[in-house]
Amino acid sequence: MIIQNDLKDLRAQLERSMMPHEIDMAMELIAKIRDLKKQMNVVVLGHNYMTPDVFYGVSDFIGDSLGLARKAAETEADIILFNGVHFMAETAKVLNPHKTVLIADPDAGCSLAESITAEDVRGLKAQYPGAPVVTYVNCTAAVKAETDICCTSANALKVVESLDSDEIIFLPDAYLAKNVAQKTNKKIISWERGKCMVHEQFTPRDIQAARRQYGDLLVVSHPECDTPVTAESDFAGSTSQMEDVIRDSSRKNVMLITECSMADNLRAVFPEKNFVSTCQTCPHMKKITLPKVYEALLNMQYEVTVPDDIIARARKAVERMIAIG
Ligand code: 13P
Ligand code: SF4
Repeated sequence: MIIQNDLKDLRAQLERSMMPHEIDMAMELIAKIRDLKKQMNVVVLGHNYMTPDVFYGVSDFIGDSLGLARKAAETEADIILFNGVHFMAETAKVLNPHKTVLIADPDAGCSLAESITAEDVRGLKAQYPGAPVVTYVNCTAAVKAETDICCTSANALKVVESLDSDEIIFLPDAYLAKNVAQKTNKKIISWERGKCMVHEQFTPRDIQAARRQYGDLLVVSHPECDTPVTAESDFAGSTSQMEDVIRDSSRKNVMLITECSMADNLRAVFPEKNFVSTCQTCPHMKKITLPKVYEALLNMQYEVTVPDDIIARARKAVERMIAIG
C-alpha cells in the first residue's frame, strides 16, 4: 500500500494509539525526516510491525514481507531505507545489487533467521537428496542462496504446491511448516529449532478466554503460531492478509494474535472496530525508531551488504517466489 498523508491526517492516525505529547515529539522528527527524503532519491519501506510514528510518519510504502519485497523489486530510487528487520533489508539488497540499501539498526535481527545457517541447509540436502528446499524469507541471504525457492506467510502453501515433488524441505519456521503440512498432501521436512520468539508465546487459552468474553469475536492469527493456536482462530495469514480479512468481516470485536504494533496500526484504518488486546512485542522490530531513522538518512547508515556470489544464488530463489505471487 502507498502512503500519502499530510501532517493533519497523520496526527489523526497517530491519535488512535499515541499520547498527545508523544505525537508532538514525533511530529518534529517526522518533519525533519520528510525534508531529508525530499533531498534524496530514497524510497522508505515500512513493515506492518513498525510503530505507528515510523509506519505512518515516514513510509512511502507499507505492507507485509511479500508486498515490500515486490516494492523493493520495482523501485527506481537510488536508495532503499528498509524499516523492518535485517533479513528484509537483505532481501531488498539481493533484488537490487546496484542500489544502496540502508537499515536504521543493523542489530534488528529475527529468532527464525538466527536459527539456521547455510551449512545446516547443506546438511539437510545431503540427508534428503532430491527434495526441493523452500525457505521462508525470514532467513539470511546465505541460507536463501542454498535453496530452490523462497516463500512468505502470504504464499507458503502456493509455493509448496507449485513444486513437482512429494517431499519438500521447508525451513526455518517449524510452526509455519506445520501449518502448511496440514493443508498439503506433500511430506514436509521441517527444522524444529526454528521458532518466532513472538508468535510462539501465544496459546489456545488466550483465544478461548477472549471468546468467552466477546460473543462476536473475529480471531485472526499469524501462521508463525503453533497449529493449536491457528486452529482456534477464524483465519491465519500474513500481516496484510489479516487486514483484508478484518475489512471483509462485519464483526466489531477483533483479536489479533500477532506483534503489538499491528493492532496499533490497524486502529487507524478501522476506527469502528474494537481491537481486543493480547499481543507480544518483537524486540527486533522495535529497534527501528524515529531518531534512528533520522540518523540513517542523515549519515547514510547502516549500509546492508551481501557478497556477490550469495546475491546471484539467493536472487533466483526470491525472484522465483515473486513470479509465483
Ligand atoms: P509478514 O508481514 O510477511 O506476515 O511477516 C511477519 C513477520 O513476522 C515478519 O517478521
Ligand atoms: Fe522474527 Fe518473529 Fe520478530 Fe518477525 S516477529 S522479526 S519472525 S522474531
